Amino acid sequence: VTHGPAESRGALRRDAPLDLDPAEFRALGHELVEAVAAMLESLPARPVVARQTPDDVRAAVDDAAPLPEHGGDATSLVRGAAALLARHSLFNGHPAFYGYITSSPAPIGILGDMLAAAVNANVGSWTLAPAATAIEAQTVRWIAELIGYPTSAGGLLVSGGNMANFVCFLAARRRAAAWDVRTTGLRAPGAPNLRVYCSAETHTWVQKAADLFGLGTDSIRWVPVDDALRMDVAALRRIVDADRAAGDAPLLVVATAGSVSTGAVDPIADIAAVCRERGIWLHADGAYGALAACAPAAPDALRALALADSVAVDPHKWLYAPLEAGCALVRDATALTDAFSYHPPYYHFTADVMNYVDYGPQNSRGFRALKVWLALRHAGRAGYARMIGDDIRLAGRLFDHVRRRPDFEAFTLGLSIATFRYVPADLRPRVGEPGVEAHLDALNRALLDRVQKSGDAFVSNAVIGGRYVLRACIVNFHTGEADVDALPDIIAAHGADLDAALRRAP
Ligand SMILES: Cc1ncc(COP(=O)(O)O)c(C=O)c1O
Repeated sequence: VTHGPAESRGALRRDAPLDLDPAEFRALGHELVEAVAAMLESLPARPVVARQTPDDVRAAVDDAAPLPEHGGDATSLVRGAAALLARHSLFNGHPAFYGYITSSPAPIGILGDMLAAAVNANVGSWTLAPAATAIEAQTVRWIAELIGYPTSAGGLLVSGGNMANFVCFLAARRRAAAWDVRTTGLRAPGAPNLRVYCSAETHTWVQKAADLFGLGTDSIRWVPVDDALRMDVAALRRIVDADRAAGDAPLLVVATAGSVSTGAVDPIADIAAVCRERGIWLHADGAYGALAACAPAAPDALRALALADSVAVDPHKWLYAPLEAGCALVRDATALTDAFSYHPPYYHFTADVMNYVDYGPQNSRGFRALKVWLALRHAGRAGYARMIGDDIRLAGRLFDHVRRRPDFEAFTLGLSIATFRYVPADLRPRVGEPGVEAHLDALNRALLDRVQKSGDAFVSNAVIGGRYVLRACIVNFHTGEADVDALPDIIAAHGADLDAALRRAP
């Protein structure tokens, strides 16, 4: 079969409304890259987010407009979208963005996403995505290597930390149930209650997993934490043994490797010993912290990740991949196929190659790996160790600042998260008095909102020991010492203003 020369194929092109003339595509693509480069370059000089109301944003989007009946000109549409987003977005790549755990995007990842979309590989099967499948497998292996996990592990990329944890949870569920849980579900005759063990600092993915996968959130045993907010391993042992004595069956123990609120790392090696003695699946939620294992400054507990049966890791956190990219790693790769594989008659996929559809919940899958793979090759292990080490060092520098100042109270420092609250200097001696605590709580809540909306910087919050605190998390290779040095003054200026207003209020 021959398809004839390209020119004659071009002459036969269908007239499709979505098709774009190659010359226009090329010109528009160049223009877009210029606009993106200008936007990225301008970030330090602009606010983290523009001062605007939700109505301003909706008006800019023209959100009441009806679905267009007929299409428009691609060049003006893309130009308009670029201008709209440049004006009305929040930029987590801004040097003064310290919110949640959302990283600055690696520029090579931005380009990788465009290339991935152009190839549009469906990475569910090797047949549909030969190079993309090989690239994903290598990416997964490199992530394992970077965190000191066995490179023989099975794994795949998913949308983020929640999904990576879900995949590991389901692999553990299949192994923990002595019956065929995939066929009969949880309500097999005589089936015990499956229990999940994790610290109270665990991210909310665990509730979603227990809820979505039929256990219910009552199945979660919240293990107490020590003063550093790490799981109390003696308590874990007691609770597991009491449940077993009552006839319940542990599904898994979750060790958090970098908690969302404070960056606390559970004592993974000690938890692994309990799991080993009792034959329980150990899952490490390293969505945030696992990647720090490559940095010399990381806590020692992270060196024990290799003891876990599964690990969730988020490339869109500390590999600085543009959203979305999570990664599930499972020591025994067959646990993934045992949990997810089906062989429907309508797929003709050969078994001698990797077909990712058998390894996870997704069917059609995008080419997420490309942006991660390119970034890993661009920075290398040493580059990542340096960037992550710098983030950790800068969080420490910020913590030192707030610890020394009379108008701040420092709370915790873990990985690259510092927590603190603004305390007007005259109230410092009265911290702990109920009236003062109520004032500080209201003040710091209002302060968070005000700082976020100001565009001067973006921090988020945590609640520690019942106290509402501000939280700066650095997973941002654009943030430097000058930014960190300026942050306390930015917060204090807004804080002093608000404090005066709150005291004036009736
Ligand atoms: C420890 C931990 N686990 C899971 C998640 C969920 O990750 P994602 O938001 O990528 O789904 C987060 C997010 O911050 C996290 O910090």
